[in-house]
Amino acid sequence: MSNIGSYEERIENFDWSISEEELGYKEGDVINIGWYCSDRICAQGKGDRPALLWENSTGEEKSYTYDDLRVCSNGIGAFLRSLGLKEGDRICLFMDRIPELYIGLLGILKIGAIAQPLFSAFGDESLFVRLENAGTSAVITQRKHASKLHKILDRLPDLKHIIIVDYDETRPLKEKEVAFSMDARRQDQLEIFPTRAESPSLLHYTSGTTGMPKGVQHVHYSLISQYLTAKWVLDITEDDIYWCTADPGWVTGTSYGIIAPWALGVTQVVLDSGFSAENWYRFIQKYRVTVWYSAPTAIRSLMKAGEEIVKQFDLSCLRHLVSVGEPLNAEAVTWSEKVFGLPFLDSYWQTETGSIMITNFPGMKIKPGSMGKTFPGIVGTVVDPQTYEPLQEPGRIGLIAFRPGWPAMMRTYWKNEETYQGKFKNGWYMPGDRARIDPQGYFWFIGRDDDVINTAGHLVSPFEVESVLLEHPAVAESAVVSKPDEINMEVVKAFVTLKPGFAVSEELELEIMNFIRKKLSSLAMPQEIEYVDSLPKTRSGKIMRRLLHAKEWGEEIGDTSTLEND
Ligand code: PRX
Repeated sequence: MSNIGSYEERIENFDWSISEEELGYKEGDVINIGWYCSDRICAQGKGDRPALLWENSTGEEKSYTYDDLRVCSNGIGAFLRSLGLKEGDRICLFMDRIPELYIGLLGILKIGAIAQPLFSAFGDESLFVRLENAGTSAVITQRKHASKLHKILDRLPDLKHIIIVDYDETRPLKEKEVAFSMDARRQDQLEIFPTRAESPSLLHYTSGTTGMPKGVQHVHYSLISQYLTAKWVLDITEDDIYWCTADPGWVTGTSYGIIAPWALGVTQVVLDSGFSAENWYRFIQKYRVTVWYSAPTAIRSLMKAGEEIVKQFDLSCLRHLVSVGEPLNAEAVTWSEKVFGLPFLDSYWQTETGSIMITNFPGMKIKPGSMGKTFPGIVGTVVDPQTYEPLQEPGRIGLIAFRPGWPAMMRTYWKNEETYQGKFKNGWYMPGDRARIDPQGYFWFIGRDDDVINTAGHLVSPFEVESVLLEHPAVAESAVVSKPDEINMEVVKAFVTLKPGFAVSEELELEIMNFIRKKLSSLAMPQEIEYVDSLPKTRSGKIMRRLLHAKEWGEEIGDTSTLEND
C-alpha cells in the first residue's frame, strides 16, 4: 500500500481542504490535536491497534494501543487540571524518550494548555532561559533530570509544579515536586478543551545568532499540514511500522514523531537509547520497520560503520526512507541506495515552518544532493538578498523565501513579535537559508544566511555559547564559530582570550568544555578551543566571527575594511 500520486497530479488543484476533509474538519470547528491523535482513531473502531512500541537501552519494552493513548492522555490531562493547570498555561516536557513524553504531549493539548518540549540533555542555563521566557507553570520530568530544575527554581517564580513520572519511595519528593504515574492514572472520560484552529498548541525554542532562544509558537491548525505532508512525503499508511529517529525535544520529533503519525493511525516505534549502527539495524529488523525518517548525521554514522554490518541483518522490511535537518550529501543518497536498495529522500523545513516545505516527493526523479521541490500548496523561491525580488535566472544563489499562509506556519515568537515581523520581507517569509534553484525547479541548499551552527542537525547559537563562556572565571573574550566535521557536518569551535593570571593547560580546557556542556548541552560544547591573544574586531568593537569562520572553512575572507586590528 502507498499514498503516492504523481507530483504533478498532487500539485494540480491543490488545496489544504483536501487535508481538512480527510480529517473531518470544517472552518470554525473545534480542532484539538490531542483528540485527533487518540480519541478519533478509537472512534473509527481502531482502538486496539498498536500506537507505540517502545524499547530502551536495557531492552525493557512497552506497548500502547490507540485506546491506551486515549485513556493515558486523559489521565494526564485530568491530573494537570487537578493541579489547577488550564488552557493557555505553558507546561514543559523534559524527559528522555519515554512513553510519558509522547503521550504527555497529548494530555497537555487535551486541556488546551501549551506544550513546551525541551531536550533532556539541556543543562540548567539552557533550561532556565527557556522556562523563564515562557513563564512555564509546570515541568513534567524524570527523577534524574529534576536536579537541574532545583538549581534554578528560585529564579523561576512562575514555576509551580515539578511532576515526577518515575517516582519511587527511595527518594523523598523535594520542593514543588509531585508524583504522577501515567500507567496507574488511566481515565476513560475527559472533557477536552474546545481549542480552535488558532489556539496555541506548542512552543518550541530555537536558536538565533543574536539574543536568546526564541519560542516558536504553533497552533492546533498545524495538524492540517502535518497530516498531509506525512501522508504524501513520508507515505505513511495504516499498514506501516514507522520510525522517526528524532527526539521530541526538537520539532521533527513532535510534528513527525507524535502528531502526524498518530493522526494517521500508524504504529510507531521508539528506541530510547544512544546511537549504534548495530542497535539501529537490530531494531529495524525486530520491529519490521517499513518507513524510516532520519537525519544526515545518523546516515553518515551508518556509512562509517560500513556495509558489512548491514548484511548481518534482514532489513528487507524497509520500503521508504526520508531525511531531514541538515544537508543530505549526494554520497549518502547513493550509499543508501546501494546498501538498503532505497535512496534516502531529502526533506527541508524548520521549527518555524512546522511542516515539510521542500522535498524529493516520492515518485519524482531524485537528484542526489538536492532538497527537491516545494510541497504542493507551498509557494517557494529564492530571492535577491537586497531587493527580496525572486531571482529569475535559474542557478543563481539567493535567499529561500516562502509565501506565508500554510497551516503549520508559526504564529509568532513568544513575547517577541518584533523579531517575528522581521522574518518577513517583501511579502515573503524568510527562513534564513541560501539556496539555488535549477532549471527543473529543484532546490540546492547552499548554507545558512546567519552564524547559527547546525551540528548533527541541531541548531546552536554562537551568541549563547559565547555568553556562557564569558561566565567562566578564566575567559576574557570569546568568539564561537563552526568548523567542518566529517560526521556532524559542523561542530562548535571557540576562540578564547584568557584573563591575566590564567595560563593555557589541558585541565583548563577540559574545565571550560565541561562548563558549557553542563550549563548548555553536549551539543553546544566546543570540540576545540583555540587560545588567542586578541580577537578580530570591527572598529566599533564587534567581534568579526565571519573572519574566524572563513579561516576554519578555508574560504575567501572578503571585505575587511571595517576591521580594527588588521
Ligand atoms: O538551515 C536549515 C537546516 O536546518 C534549519 C532548521 O533547523 P530546525 O529549526 O532545528 O529544524 C530542523 C528540522 C526540521 C533550516 O533552516 N535544514 C533543515 N533541513 C535541511 C536543512 N539544511 C539542508 N537540507 C535540509 N534538508
